[in-house]
Amino acid sequence: MTQNKWIPIASVLQGELVGRTVCIRGWIYRRSVVGGKAFVRIRDSTGVIQVVVDRSRVGARAVKELKDIGLEASVEACGTVVEQPRAPGGYEIHADRFNIIGYSRDFPIKGGEGLEYLLDNRHLVLRSPRYARLMKIKHTILRAGREYFISNGWWEVTPPILTASACEGGATLFPVKYFERTAYLSQSAQLYLEVLIYSLEKVWSLTPSFRAEKSRTRRHLAEYWHLEAEAAWYNMDDMMRVSEELVSYIVEKTLEERRRDLEEIGRNLDTLKQAVNTPYPRIRYDEAIEILQTKGVNIEWGADLGADEERVLAIEFEQPFFITHFPKEIKSFYMKLDPRDDRVVLGFDLLAPEGYGEIIGGSEREDDYEALLKRIVENGLNPEDYKWYLDLRRYGSVPHSGFGLGIERLAMWIAGLNHIRDTIPFPRFRGRIYP
Ligand code: 4AD
Ligand code: MG
Repeated sequence: MTQNKWIPIASVLQGELVGRTVCIRGWIYRRSVVGGKAFVRIRDSTGVIQVVVDRSRVGARAVKELKDIGLEASVEACGTVVEQPRAPGGYEIHADRFNIIGYSRDFPIKGGEGLEYLLDNRHLVLRSPRYARLMKIKHTILRAGREYFISNGWWEVTPPILTASACEGGATLFPVKYFERTAYLSQSAQLYLEVLIYSLEKVWSLTPSFRAEKSRTRRHLAEYWHLEAEAAWYNMDDMMRVSEELVSYIVEKTLEERRRDLEEIGRNLDTLKQAVNTPYPRIRYDEAIEILQTKGVNIEWGADLGADEERVLAIEFEQPFFITHFPKEIKSFYMKLDPRDDRVVLGFDLLAPEGYGEIIGGSEREDDYEALLKRIVENGLNPEDYKWYLDLRRYGSVPHSGFGLGIERLAMWIAGLNHIRDTIPFPRFRGRIYP
């Protein structure tokens, strides 16, 4: 048997093989046995098709076996392609041959199970066509993100995951035993990317980032994929333009290549389409506070915007939108202060519409040695730990900016999910790391 004898189910569903004999293989997704006939829905990585296994064509044994065997058995089948409007996808295969490759008895997922049970059986749940679609959507998001940077002349680099110091504050650091001392899992590649702009000017990386988030929310993971960029000579506006072009490009590609998958999981494409158009609206933190106050939200200047505030603001916009110039107290030590008002930073968040909240955080970086040292001390950090980072401001400092995009946050919004966990095959949260 050669490899190419087997054809993908999707190519049968295209309808050009009616009347021909084909061979497929995959897993049993649904089946029912009526009299001497079994109706078996088989799925592979490309789709689901109904195979009719008739005693008169394949013998009584195959049909009897199908009565006993469970869902998710692996099988192969050869037969004639027939147009059948009542079958899902409009075509079915009338089998001449049907073999069971791997038995499956009492598959533990039958439908209607609770969340914790499904998470305990994640290794099996991931076989469902819905997860296959979500993983394909994520594939396209990742591919488009890489493609954007590569085709615009940015260098891909490989920063470490084991780190010596915090980028985003101690509260969400994961310590790990590192030989005789303690190290931390990276929260962001940013500080390393800043090093690398001195040789490559425009760099990007795609790495796992880790946050020891104290509570389980709909949009926080303990481990997520972080697409980050950093560029010499770029100011905040330049970097905001890169952010919006990147998001617009990813949405456009996903709409182009994954339209069917998006539709099948129930995503409303009209709202998504608006994100292809740039520029995205920009408001300052001051304006965000005013909008919130006129809407009756109890918030004062200086407070951080949480998920609830972000949702209220999102009602104002149909596209992703930027919030800029946050008070320095609620942002990280490395953000440059606005020379026109040093109570605020030259920092920006990009928020998804439809209430999905922050998908990108970025800023211009403090490039002055003394100013950065002051911010490190103000933030209660030890300047010793950041000696190397401060050095970058001692030897040929340049204005520069960067940002980080949370891939799962973006995927959650693009797919229109109400929880981040389904954007990643093996989600990590507080209280759970399995399998
Ligand atoms: O806003 P954050 O914390 O920014 C940084 O880490 C910067 N150092 C990035 C940079 O400038 N290079 O995180 C960036 C993005 C957020 O906008 C969000 O999309 C995502 O990372 N993110 C998370 N995604 C899932 N789960 C979490 N716990 C996340 N925390 C942040
Ligand atoms: Mg942020």
